[in-house]
Amino acid sequence: MNTELSNKIKISFKERFKTEPLMIFSPGRINIIGEHTDYNDGFVFPAAVNKGIVAGIQKSEDFESKVYAVDKNEEISFSLYTLKPSAEGSWANYVLGVVSELQNRSKTIGNFNIAFGGDIPGGAGMSSSAALENSVVFGLNELFNLGLSKEEMILISQKAEHNYVGVKCGIMDQYASMFGIENHALLLDCRTVKSKPYKIDFKDYELILINTNVKHSLSDSAYNDRRSVCESIAEMLKVKALRDATEYDLQGIKDKVTPENYQKVLYIIQENDRVIKASKAMEADDLKTLGVLLYASHEGLQNQYKVSCFELDFLVEQAKLNGHVLGARMMGGGFGGCTLNLIAKNESENFKTHVAKVYNEKFGKACSIYSVKLSAGTHLI
Ligand code: GLA
Repeated sequence: MNTELSNKIKISFKERFKTEPLMIFSPGRINIIGEHTDYNDGFVFPAAVNKGIVAGIQKSEDFESKVYAVDKNEEISFSLYTLKPSAEGSWANYVLGVVSELQNRSKTIGNFNIAFGGDIPGGAGMSSSAALENSVVFGLNELFNLGLSKEEMILISQKAEHNYVGVKCGIMDQYASMFGIENHALLLDCRTVKSKPYKIDFKDYELILINTNVKHSLSDSAYNDRRSVCESIAEMLKVKALRDATEYDLQGIKDKVTPENYQKVLYIIQENDRVIKASKAMEADDLKTLGVLLYASHEGLQNQYKVSCFELDFLVEQAKLNGHVLGARMMGGGFGGCTLNLIAKNESENFKTHVAKVYNEKFGKACSIYSVKLSAGTHLI
């Protein structure tokens, strides 16, 4: 975690609200493999990282609650009795949505003040939104002794996103952010919501992230559309979720679905399978196979599930041109954000310099390159 950031948030909180806050760090996440499988009850392989959201929170004697977004220098205030979503696209909905879900569960809270800031840009595909939701629910649980388990808290965060933000997300982001373990990735079964930790040590290789610094605007509606295609085809296949379907099952209804939707569902079935294969490859220290699976995942996201974009595809093409990159793929919901690259440590610097140059030449803007450490989940600082 970034101590400079946490000092900044603490100072901002104290200046503005004149009390001592409870401080929380809630991490963002990466995902090694398993994209869009979470809302199909499938498998994913995320890890919390040492970048995320820092929040300061404390009870307030006021008649209203206040939220201060330090990075944006914006404040909102609201009454707990007349809660409603803010304008579409506003950061406030991640906070208001959590409060609303607590109320839906008859959890009583009083007024509070919160100040937050982060070190992952929104739109990076690293779940700054889940990190923010988790920091709020975690902080309110502590402040008002709500007695919520971590399992309950992540469901509250997820519902906040469904109902206030309007994205029908799966559980991966909230889970990884809350349950992360230092130096580990989590093989998560999104049906049972239980995970198996894997110690990550890629020896001569490392993971680096390259942020396209774009977020194409159709992403939320495209996300919800994909989810509803998956659900309706699961229904046609008479299974609870696509996790239960096989390629053979899908073949059986080929003439009843459009070729586009056929490919989307095929992608989900294959990606789910890739997650299991990736976990076995990691158990066997077989990074080559892991790399092949990463490229295959990108290929599916690009051509079958159709959630990639030019910028992401360009970065993955650059990775393929470099013999020291074992695998690369877009990460997260898609339409922008980061690629994840598994690269030989001794080639990393060359690759970074090269990619920064060619990306700039191609798109007339900079990409950002990050190395991350795998970190513990949401916690008090
Ligand atoms: C977003 C969602 C997650 C997951 C990913 C794609 O990050 O919030 O639930 O579906 O996209 O894997």
